[in-house]
Amino acid sequence: ASFLVLNGPNLNLLGQRQPDIYGSTTLDQIEAQCLDHGARLGHDVVCVQSNHEGALIDAIHQARGVHAGCVLNAGAYTHTSIGLMDAIAATELPVVELHLSNIHAREPFRHKSYIASVAIGQICGFGPRGYLLALDALVGNLRDRGG
Ligand code: DQA
Repeated sequence: ASFLVLNGPNLNLLGQRQPDIYGSTTLDQIEAQCLDHGARLGHDVVCVQSNHEGALIDAIHQARGVHAGCVLNAGAYTHTSIGLMDAIAATELPVVELHLSNIHAREPFRHKSYIASVAIGQICGFGPRGYLLALDALVGNLRDRGG
């Protein structure tokens, strides 16, 4: 099967961006690890990043029927975007919500996630390794669905 790894705003700056919070691994390195991990599991992984809310919504629409699931780090749109939430609900795309940092241990405005209500589950606080845990979760979800 194929899985989408979708990263939202400011995640293109990983490695340079607040390394005390987000670490020193770049998005290119995370994406390479996702491709390797997918290959180990016998699945394809496609990685997309955008800083634009509408482009993220388009990517979710386009994933329908193409990808068996999506790892979504929606960045700050996690806490604001009813549009992204609605796109996931509308497409019924299986989504694992992912954050590098533990959003529940940070500022109160990061505790609210619009994605959580339409995701299979949420992984946060494990840094880049979280992406691989999220892919494992999607593979398990596909198996549960008989895939
Ligand atoms: C983040 C957490 C969000 O609160 C923040 O806006 C981000 C990154 C994370 O991966 O920890 O941009 O999604």
